Amino acid sequence: MCGIVGYIGKHEAAPIILEGLSKLEYRGYDSTGMAIFDGEKIRIKKSAGRLKVLEELTHGGATMPGVAGIGHTRWATHGVPSDVNAHPHYNEEETIAVVHNGIIENYIPLREKLMSKGYKFTSDTDTEVLAHLIDYYYKGNPLEAITKVMHRVQGSYALGIIFAEHPDQIFAVRKDSPLIVGQNEDGCFIASDVPAILKYTRKVYFIENQEVVRLRADHMHFYNVDEEELPKEPVTIDWDADAAEKGGYEHFMLKEMYEQPKTVTDTLMPRIKDNDIVIEELGMSDEEIRAIRKIFIVACGSAYHTGVTAKYIFEGAARIPVEVDVASEFRYRKPILEEGTMVIVISQSGETADTLAALRESQKLGHKVLGIVNVVGSSIAREADNVMYTWAGPEIAVATTKAYSAQLIALYLLAMKFGKVRGTLAEAEFGSMLEDLKRLPGQIERLLANKERIQRFANRYIGAKDVFFIGRGIDYAISMEGSLKLKEISYIHSEAYAAGELKHGTISLIEEGTLVAAVATQDSLFQKTLSNMVEVKARGAFVLAVTNEGNTDIEKAADYCIYLPKTNQWFTNSLAIIPLQLFGYYVAVGKGCDVDKPRNLAKSVTVE
Ligand code: AGP
Repeated sequence: MCGIVGYIGKHEAAPIILEGLSKLEYRGYDSTGMAIFDGEKIRIKKSAGRLKVLEELTHGGATMPGVAGIGHTRWATHGVPSDVNAHPHYNEEETIAVVHNGIIENYIPLREKLMSKGYKFTSDTDTEVLAHLIDYYYKGNPLEAITKVMHRVQGSYALGIIFAEHPDQIFAVRKDSPLIVGQNEDGCFIASDVPAILKYTRKVYFIENQEVVRLRADHMHFYNVDEEELPKEPVTIDWDADAAEKGGYEHFMLKEMYEQPKTVTDTLMPRIKDNDIVIEELGMSDEEIRAIRKIFIVACGSAYHTGVTAKYIFEGAARIPVEVDVASEFRYRKPILEEGTMVIVISQSGETADTLAALRESQKLGHKVLGIVNVVGSSIAREADNVMYTWAGPEIAVATTKAYSAQLIALYLLAMKFGKVRGTLAEAEFGSMLEDLKRLPGQIERLLANKERIQRFANRYIGAKDVFFIGRGIDYAISMEGSLKLKEISYIHSEAYAAGELKHGTISLIEEGTLVAAVATQDSLFQKTLSNMVEVKARGAFVLAVTNEGNTDIEKAADYCIYLPKTNQWFTNSLAIIPLQLFGYYVAVGKGCDVDKPRNLAKSVTVE
């Protein structure tokens, strides 16, 4: 996600901001920029590309004199990576500049309103709306203008703001996206994350939601959204620089697992409006949706596993036949894509060679392709006919977690929308599913809180040789991802099996103490999976069961149970995968593996 740094104090701001932004590079970005008040006006320099480009553009900050400013590294969500879409953004008079991390959910109606009042926009970003909206409310009092904007804007934001008419102060504002402030004898600082200012101070203030901070060279004041001043105590950071990049977590993978409630929210909420699903970027009319006769879902690895899950939901909710294929197979099997076939490719990186090839093959056969992608401006995002972004932010760990969860959300929304438009999903069921979707972030948070229990269980399997994951229907898809998470970071052999398929061979591998993780979240298949658990237990297996709260019958056949909060049957992957991610992670940690960078693997497989 984006990085913000701000400074006001005794020293030149630009070099401090550039240094701070360099400490946030690990967060992933595609463009950078700075706004500095030079004594007369706010000057902005910004550019697509690496921070080095901005450093060269400003001669290390020397060409941007001034002691107050804000800077930004942008991870594109709305608007491709480009000079004009880079932050900071100005108002038209160039008297206000803003940098932003987050997603403004209602930026389209706000932009329309501002344009109707004569405002002109230069970028494709949601952030530029903020610059003009602050201008719209600004009558000389920055705090008043900022709090009015906070009342109007929906979504997540961490902001740095400067006003040319108030050069002795800079502002920080927060709702949902992280933001901290700090102070030392030379000035005051704003940052998205601790690493950016650790060099200057270890005493920081974590800004809470809906709070505004006014920073001057030698002091700060905190306010709530009603402009009432708030007391605030600093926190002393005792992390080293490396730990600080991971937000205090031991690995990026664990940090990203814990970001899943937010990435699910960020992918979900901007697409739910007035109890309906609105997917602006789908690029399909209701008529075109009704004309779909078949869907092909093509992807690799974990993205493929989300596709297997989606098959059940598209076929169940929208009654559209779905074929799911790994891209490396699809591209060579001369796929038969008949009239009315929609192709969906799924990719976190948007650069996976096989998936990109499958996209091109489908287009060559005359079919439009929808890309479900996390990286804005990536090859698949650029070449797909339409793109539905997952807004999970940059994923650093090779083993995907938060992007996987965001892909599931995108697919749920798509299948529900198709079902509603095609009249195969009843209004009442649609409404109940929307409520279940909104509960997922909190339920994921609850499951993540279980980490110590999972860690203790995982420690028992550090020496395991073979682990099997079994399930039926969507539970089989969950088993695939659980198995991949374990094997790709712990190097323990693991297989996912359709539970009903075990007795056709694989069950001969079950020995005394072999761990079998049975996923049983599908009520209609529960008894069947239960009997498969009994089968493997009879052959000596140790059975870990993952099932819904209330299914205590499972304790007849399971040695260890993990219960999930209740949700719609089609959404259980979003919950069941959490303990399985934690299990794979803690086994790998216990084995001393390089969790974030497993051997032989790359974050994006850009070659065949
Ligand atoms: C999953 O943890 C792996 N990193 C891998 O299977 C990954 O999902 C696959 O390579 C697809 O990558 P993509 O989503 O970037 O296309």
